[in-house]
Amino acid sequence: MNTDRITIAVDGYSSCGKSTMAKALAKRIGYTYIDTGAMYRSVTLYAMRQGWIRDGEVDQTRLEAALPDLTVDFDPQGRCRLNGEVVEPEIRSMQVSSQVSRVSALPFVRRHLVRWQRAMGASGGVVMDGRDIGTVVFPDARLKVFVTADATVRAQRRYDELRSAGRQVSLEEVLANVRQRDDMDEHRADSPLRRADDALLLDNGHMTLEEQNEWMYQAYVKACRCK
Ligand code: DC
Repeated sequence: MNTDRITIAVDGYSSCGKSTMAKALAKRIGYTYIDTGAMYRSVTLYAMRQGWIRDGEVDQTRLEAALPDLTVDFDPQGRCRLNGEVVEPEIRSMQVSSQVSRVSALPFVRRHLVRWQRAMGASGGVVMDGRDIGTVVFPDARLKVFVTADATVRAQRRYDELRSAGRQVSLEEVLANVRQRDDMDEHRADSPLRRADDALLLDNGHMTLEEQNEWMYQAYVKACRCK
């Protein structure tokens, strides 16, 4: 097998478990895992803390001016940091989840984050997950996977996760958020969520975690062989 450290792009719908799978693969093969959704969430949290999102409107002028001075990165445990502060689990809250599609639809936000992401993955050996990794960030990635599952299955998974973290949410609320984000992610003008022509499709709605992880690993092995 060719042992070059390749770039692996994992895209797909919200709450389809792609982060869990991407993280497990990165660990198994000794790659760096990068959660680009966490980066969009951190910028959203920053704008919320500044009071720059009101009634669903983002103060774009201020956010654009602030972005060059913002640092979003990951600590050695893979936790997302905003200006050096670990912002897990705050960035996973429903408040941030309900605003993040708005912020991530802004072209200047995407431009900045794509630049950071390309720098993070420049030397290969990364598993990066998001919505536009295989289409925009790394269109030449050796392995691209597009993950999907029915919205109700994804909402149930997200609901279980939030409840086990002690969050008071209803399944209806989570399902509505999942559907709203699907809609905004698929229909935004800049880099909408779509499967790259050369991405492998994985519908994991009826797969166990072990099956998904094995599927990902085999896809990686095959991608290395096919160089
Ligand atoms: O993967 P996630 O649910 O944590 O992502 C949060 C939001 O960020 C999601 O609504 C879509 C957006 N996002 C994006 O537009 N592009 C990416 N590469 C990653 C996430």
